[in-house]
Amino acid sequence: MKIAVFVSGRGSNLNAILNYPDLKSLVEVVAVLSDKIDCKAFEIAKEFDIKTFTVGKNEGMIHQDEITAILKKLNVELIVLAGYLKLIPFMLIENFENRIINIHPALLPSFGGKGMYGMNVHRSVYNSSAKVSGATIHFVDKSYDTGKIISQKCVDISDVKSPEEIADRVLKIEHQILPEVVKAFAEDRIIIEDNRVIVLN
Ligand code: GAR
Repeated sequence: MKIAVFVSGRGSNLNAILNYPDLKSLVEVVAVLSDKIDCKAFEIAKEFDIKTFTVGKNEGMIHQDEITAILKKLNVELIVLAGYLKLIPFMLIENFENRIINIHPALLPSFGGKGMYGMNVHRSVYNSSAKVSGATIHFVDKSYDTGKIISQKCVDISDVKSPEEIADRVLKIEHQILPEVVKAFAEDRIIIEDNRVIVLN
């Protein structure tokens, strides 16, 4: 299965997908897209000889209306948003219905929505005095963080002393569940029934 990964920065989730042993024979990352000209994730992509694209309006960038055609040409079957911070164009969502997933660093439907990304999420969780946090993988629909939930895993944060500590614990979980969900897609083990998503074993 050919996939595209959208990133905005560090790319540790991209790295987790690329280095997950079970995915090596199942999945090929054929494109990495970012809203940044340069980011750590692009360095990782280049190490793996993966095409990179910057989405934007300047020269050398691809316009967001072009994304769908580019990904179709590359035969992409699944789009993974791994820390991509821009809203996804409607056209892409319509053309890749139930084929775009996002990783969110908290337990949705709490701590999601516009502006809730990266450390903003972990600070809100910390300030809420919640005792657990976690990671969520969900389908992408037309607004932020509201699509159907595919997978979640929680982590105990009852003893943390900072939002950074929450971020560290959650990231470890992200790196486990994201490749697992991508694998389930590649093996056709994801079923949508009414409003629920079932991941078959
Ligand atoms: C990850 O923690 C991801 O969950 C988060 O951005 C980080 C990207 O890290 N995404 C969001 O907050 C989306 N709302 P990475 O570039 O190292 O994978």
